[in-house]
Amino acid sequence: MTGTVSDPDALRQRALAALLAARERTSLLTTCVEEPELTAQHSPLMSPLVWDLAHIGNQEELWLLRAVAGRDAMRPEIDGLYDAFEHPRSERPSLPLLAPAEARGYAAEVRGRALDVLQSTPFRGSPLADAGFAFGMIAQHEQQHDETMLITHQLRSGPTALTAPDPEPGPRFTGPSEVLVPGGPFTMGTSTEPWALDNERPAHHRLVPPFFIDTTPVTNADYQRFIADGGYTDQRWWAPAGWDMVRGNELSAPLFWRREGGQWLRRHFGTVEAVPPDEPVLHVSWYEADAYARWAGRRLPSEEEWEKAARHDPASDRSMRYPWGDTDPTPERANLGQRHLRPAPAGSYPAGESPLGVRQLIGDVWEWTSSDFLPYPGFSAFPYREYSDVFFGGDYKVLRGGAFSVDEVACRGTFRNWDHPVRRQIFSGFRTARDAGPAETA
Ligand SMILES: [Fe+2]
Repeated sequence: MTGTVSDPDALRQRALAALLAARERTSLLTTCVEEPELTAQHSPLMSPLVWDLAHIGNQEELWLLRAVAGRDAMRPEIDGLYDAFEHPRSERPSLPLLAPAEARGYAAEVRGRALDVLQSTPFRGSPLADAGFAFGMIAQHEQQHDETMLITHQLRSGPTALTAPDPEPGPRFTGPSEVLVPGGPFTMGTSTEPWALDNERPAHHRLVPPFFIDTTPVTNADYQRFIADGGYTDQRWWAPAGWDMVRGNELSAPLFWRREGGQWLRRHFGTVEAVPPDEPVLHVSWYEADAYARWAGRRLPSEEEWEKAARHDPASDRSMRYPWGDTDPTPERANLGQRHLRPAPAGSYPAGESPLGVRQLIGDVWEWTSSDFLPYPGFSAFPYREYSDVFFGGDYKVLRGGAFSVDEVACRGTFRNWDHPVRRQIFSGFRTARDAGPAETA
């Protein structure tokens, strides 16, 4: 949503469209499998799909019906079941969860009431109501769980009824492999984006020395060279905890890959395919991204470097909402919204490139950065500490830019995602960077 919408009718339309789009996707993700698949746990890392479904409804009830509209709890006895902090994912299958039909009915009833609230809300008078923040937050929350459910579908064994056309193949990218981002200050984060979350705030200045960053994400072909060069068996490239992870789990390739008949294959949403060489690499942990970068004589970009490459316009010396400017994403600019079930080949989307020519910063694959997830100067937790505050520290690494699995409502140039550095089931890839020497910046 653009930062300038303040007309209540326009806000209402935006919020309505975002909520409807999220529910359409939730329906798709929970009707494309048989009912027993909804209640099964497909990985200890994930909830049963039916938990996500009722949790989506429960959070909507908490924030839109109770917090914004002051309503009483519809079913207070289920709140604890769907509190993500009360029960870790591994425990959720053993809880007395609502059955699929009941979960659907509950989420639909909450939604009906929430749309009534939306019709009468004044969009002002409290931080939750201002600019429809609570509605934007809930639409983002549902889309984020939709992404989580898509990960569950990728982890499931067996076929899936999920389909989507592949990205249109464009002309092969022939541009430079890296670009120089000049040194100097830039504005990181936002104080004006109305639906930005607490961890993206406030806008503040950062001084970033000059650096080079890859024009595109690292591809499967690039990554295969690292594997073929013995990358997984050479301790030199690995952070100590990453080396322990590789040895302890006998890792030799990204998650879902296997070697057969002299070629790399991968399981991708229920089918096995040859690993596509031109696609950005997917399903690598932070440790693998970090090791690849070291092997390549480079490093991961820091979070501030990534954001400067994605948002700073040297001509106007200001930070934009997206690499291409301030307008919302379009299918020509970025691979978002589960429109496709895979990233587009590296170098795609010339219309979405940054002023310096960096491509695919938004969409395609989440990009690991070298940075720990930390608060910005002046951070203030909103609307509750468990949103971001309790995750700050050294346990999580920041990922940026969204992926094909991310809806545009939950993807901005300022948006921050975080996860443990060992995680590989997420739609994660990376690009690399290097310091610029004095001679190169002259
Ligand atoms: Fe949640």
